[in-house]
Amino acid sequence: SNVNGTQLSTLRVTIDGQPIEVAAGTTILEAARRLGIDIPILCHRDDLRGVGVCRVCAVEVKGARTMAAACVRPVENNMEVSTHHTSAKVNRSVATLLELLITDNLVARRPDHKFGENELETLARRFGVTGRLNAKVAGAATRFPAPTTNRGQDFSSPIIAVDHNACILCDRCIRACNDLKANHVMGRMGKGYQSRIAFDLDQLMGESSCVACGECMVVCPTGALAHKGFVKPEVLEGQVDPKKRVRPATAEEL
Ligand code: FES
Repeated sequence: SNVNGTQLSTLRVTIDGQPIEVAAGTTILEAARRLGIDIPILCHRDDLRGVGVCRVCAVEVKGARTMAAACVRPVENNMEVSTHHTSAKVNRSVATLLELLITDNLVARRPDHKFGENELETLARRFGVTGRLNAKVAGAATRFPAPTTNRGQDFSSPIIAVDHNACILCDRCIRACNDLKANHVMGRMGKGYQSRIAFDLDQLMGESSCVACGECMVVCPTGALAHKGFVKPEVLEGQVDPKKRVRPATAEEL
């Protein structure tokens, strides 16, 4: 923002009615944290550059037609922001978004899987999607149909189990592999429902140039990339053919 063409170095912003002055370049998320206001994040991590792909950090900016992603949107002078704490619209949007992600995430619906914390599930419970999540686990009808695409699993790495069906394409693993570690193994393949993370030029993980540093599984919020020690032996043994990459989803999973 500027006055008479001069860049301002300090910007005023109001978040949920609370004013604060921040340095230019500060994101809405960072400004909110300084006020002690918690905004949910899923694709974002402080050690990774912001990409704004999941939109779970949505906030309303007064005068704007669309919601903003707080993790990547820089503060502008005199901006008035409402988070899910004060805006029912934001709260509803984030809850619906989490419900859609949960619907598309097989592992989140399978309490028998022990991958450590599933950040998506934790957020969904916080936003009241719990009842619908439990209904989904119990096989009851829910608002959204289950996914029909099986993107497969890959157990070819000696250390890391990959469940493409649990992946929400948050891009954390790709940024960790390329930006944090400079390993440059991971990227994306496919379009639409077939989109998935990929290793080198779409090799199996165990046959790619992956050095099994584990950074991707550390940052993964859903257990799509998990230490093999956390995956039940029945699941690992259930693979039909590792070369085919795909273990067909069972009836309970769909
Ligand atoms: Fe901001 Fe994902 S956390 S878009």
